[in-house]
Amino acid sequence: MDVDWDGLTALAREAMGHAYAPYSGFTVGAAARVDDGRLVSGCNVENAAYGVALCAECGLVSELHRSGGGRLTHFVCVGGDGRLIMPCGRCRQLLWENGGAALELLTASGVRTMEEVLPDAFGPDDLDRPR
Ligand code: THU
Repeated sequence: MDVDWDGLTALAREAMGHAYAPYSGFTVGAAARVDDGRLVSGCNVENAAYGVALCAECGLVSELHRSGGGRLTHFVCVGGDGRLIMPCGRCRQLLWENGGAALELLTASGVRTMEEVLPDAFGPDDLDRPR
């Protein structure tokens, strides 16, 4: 599927402008396309209790559900000066849950799938209780 990576990157940079990162000084913005064509985004929000910091992806996933749910199909994350960054390990798990193996990520080394950046992931299929 053709996706507007430039538009998604611009949205991530716009989201980054709303970040609250007084402790690390490292602002992050994330943006994604949803399978119904919607766009969602998020920024990191830090806390005086440092470990409580919310990554940009947390806000993005919250907006995904708040705005109607669905599956993430394409994802971009930018940090600092607006360059592409990789999602942290915890956020790869969040992305796996909400996009699965086929979710595409724009990275500095090109377009990668979740399967590539989180191989052999633990996910909903590993739980044997009904969902
Ligand atoms: N951060 C994110 O928002 N997403 C990531 O995937 C990597 C890290 C944030 C957390 C913290 O506020 C700052 O970047 C520095 O680690």
